Order: sequence, then structure tokens, then C-alpha cells
Amino acid sequence: MAQSLQSFHTFSLPSQCQHFYQIDEVNQLLSTDFSAPFCILGEGSNTVFLSDYQGSVIHMNTKGIDIEQQNDGFLLHIAAGENWHQLVAMTIANDMPGLENLALIPGTVGAAPVQNIGAYGVELEKFVSYVEYFDIATKTIKRLTKGECQFGYRDSIFKHALKNQAVITQVGLLLPKKWQPVLSYGPLQLLSEPSPQQVFEQIITTRNSKLPNPSELANAGSFFKNPVIRNEQLALLLKSYPELPHYFVDAEHYKVAAGWLIEQAGLKGFKVAGIEVHQQQALVLVNHGNSTGDDLIAMVKHVQQQVWHKYQIALQHEVRLINAEHECHIELGASS
Ligand code: FAD
Ligand code: EPU
Repeated sequence: MAQSLQSFHTFSLPSQCQHFYQIDEVNQLLSTDFSAPFCILGEGSNTVFLSDYQGSVIHMNTKGIDIEQQNDGFLLHIAAGENWHQLVAMTIANDMPGLENLALIPGTVGAAPVQNIGAYGVELEKFVSYVEYFDIATKTIKRLTKGECQFGYRDSIFKHALKNQAVITQVGLLLPKKWQPVLSYGPLQLLSEPSPQQVFEQIITTRNSKLPNPSELANAGSFFKNPVIRNEQLALLLKSYPELPHYFVDAEHYKVAAGWLIEQAGLKGFKVAGIEVHQQQALVLVNHGNSTGDDLIAMVKHVQQQVWHKYQIALQHEVRLINAEHECHIELGASS
């Protein structure tokens, strides 16, 4: 049955799909129609529907957390539809620290491995023991080890070889009993011998000061990835822009802050219809309403063109964009 998707993705553009399946039990996947096109959806905080979607949306809403105590850690088995932040809060409240730097990231546990969520010096992969998924072709449950997930910066096998092949049903996270805080990020360095609870609270305060709450102002978090560039290009850019924030990746590459590039290109507050480059964080696009997918596409192209013109850096969007039939990518000079 047709269903409005506006409240099922946090960027909240008007959109409808042809069929909507809510999955409360993994068994329901056996009888779900996966004939194309289909789109797997958690809480829609990294997905934008650009127009009406001519296919089925499969909304993962399975619940359940099992905690297995081991000698030196806690192994958590978590259903895909659990809310990520509630999971983090539960672990902190129950003396199972580790996930505190990843507090307040919106979305479901099942989506977390897809882009290997990360914030404030920590990425999900650090804690992954396994990821279990429903294999659409064989209708069986399979399990990947952390290594098999091919995690990278905002990347995993679920965006490549297993794209449209796998519905993540459960994630296994191993939280070591020996807590090793990661306090490298600015505001965390000011804390002296903090408890996990204090780090958790500081992360929440920091995020609330920078990132708009999607329930108050529609957005999808960082819209673009921080680009990874070669050393030689960074050296050239630093001659003109010595303030450019940059982070070591490997001997040949650095990551640079896309929010800084966009702000310095003069785009903070730039608007296309109701879509705006956020005033507090230029990497975030917000939707004040009365906007369409075409407005968003025009905005993305404009930001990409301005950044290319000024720095010769091609920005890639981090957010998954879905057109009438499939995921699409907006790139400089072309869109697919
Ligand atoms: P959805 O948007 O529903 O889905 C995302 C992708 O995963 C889609 O391609 C979907 O098909 C796929 N998918 C979802 N569930 C499954 C499943 N069970 N099986 C297979 N595929 C699935 N991200 C960060 O990494 N770090 C941040 O700090 C961060 N901050 C954010 C702040 C804000 C305000 C917002 C709005 C977003 C932020 N994000 C951040 C992005 C987002 O929170 C994450 O990408 C999150 O994991 C998305 O979860 P979701 O359930 O909403 O995913
Ligand atoms: N900056 C500016 N102007 C801006 C925005 C940022 O100059 O408008 C500068 C900041 O001053 C800082 C640097 O850029 O020097 C980095 O900014 P920030 O620490 O706010 O983080 P970010 O690189 O913009 C990334 C992630 C976020 C994650 C934070 C914290 C990506 C694409 N984004 O943002 O993830 O929460 O770091 O670790 O990697 C998301 O993926 O949706 C997301 C919010």
C-alpha cells in the first residue's frame, strides 16, 4: 500500500513509496517481496528520498538486546531495529563503557555498520565482533567477521559487494572490561580523568551545540564526506590556506575538513528554496520545508561546483540519495 515517507527520513522531503513493509520479526523477511526496486530503511537519518519512490521500502524494526558476559568483555547481540543512542545510553548506565564517543548519533543499530558510523576519534568497527544478515538471494542468515565487513571511513562491504543483497538483522559488539577512553578531540581534552558518564555527557553537549536536532530542523547530518587528498595537493592548499584543518590518514594522504572548505567558500547560509547550508555547521544541509528533491540536487551541485572552483577538490555526498527507482550519486559534471 502507498505510504508517505516524509516522516520516515529525517531530511523530510515529501515522498511516497508504492509498498511499505515493517519488519518486526526476522522471519517476516522470508515472505517479503524483494523484487526490485526495494530500499532497506532504518530511521532514515542517512537517506533522502528525492521524489516518489516506485518500489518497496523495507523498514527494519526488530528489537532485542542480549548481553553475554565474557572473561574480559561484554559481548552484546543487538537486533537491527534497536535505536543506536538508546543502546549507548544503556551500556553507559550499566557499567559497560566504550561506546560513549558515539553517543547521540541518530539511527538504528542495523544501519551502523553500513557506513561504519564514527565520531570524535572512534569508529564502530573498533567494537564489532560480527554482523549477521539475511541473504536475499538464498533466504538464509549469514554472519561476517569484523575483517570480512571491509570497514573504512564511512564505508563497508554493505555499500559494495553486498549492496542490495543483505538485510542486516543483528550486530555483535564486544565491549572490553578494561576501559580505554579516547579523549583526543578538542573539548574532551579539557576533562581531567573523566568517567565514561562524563565523556558521554560532554559528547552530548558538544553535538547539541553544533548539530541541529532532526526533530526540530530537518537534516541528515554531514551531507558530504571529508575528502581524502594526496600530500602534494595538501601542501599546495596550505600555502594559500594555512588554517585548513587536516588529519593524517596514511603516508600519502590527508583528510581535510569539508565544513571548513564550504564555510570559507562563503556558502554558510546559502539557500535553494527551503534548503540551507547550516549556519552553525556548513557540512550540514537543513530543510526548512517547502523544498523538493530538485532543490536539493541544485544545492548539492552548487556546493560541489564552488568547492571545486576554489580548491580543486571534488566533494562526495555521504548521504544516500534515492530517486524514483534507485540510489543515485550526484557528482561534478554528471549525476547517475
Ligand atoms: P538509514 O538512513 O535508514 O539507512 C542508511 C543506509 O543503511 C541506507 O543505505 C539503508 O539502505 C541501509 N540500511 C539501513 N538499515 C539496514 C539494515 N538493517 N540492513 C542493511 N542495510 C541497512 N553518522 C556518523 O557516522 N557519525 C555521526 O556523527 C553522525 N551524526 C549525525 C547527526 C545527525 C543530526 C544526523 C541526522 C545524522 C548523523 N549521522 C552520523 C548519519 C546517521 O546517523 C548514520 O548514518 C546512521 O547509521 C543511520 O542510521 P539509520 O537507521 O537512520 O539509517
Ligand atoms: N569547520 C569549520 N566550519 C564549519 C564546520 C566545521 O571551519 O562550518 C571546521 C571545524 O572548526 C573543525 C573542522 O572543520 O576544525 C571539523 O569540524 P567538526 O569537528 O565539527 O567535524 P566534521 O569534520 O565537520 C565529522 C563527521 C561527523 C562527526 C564529527 C565529529 C564526517 C563527514 N562528519 O564532522 O559525522 O560527528 O566529525 O567526529 O566525517 C555525520 O557523518 O553525519 C556526522 C555528523
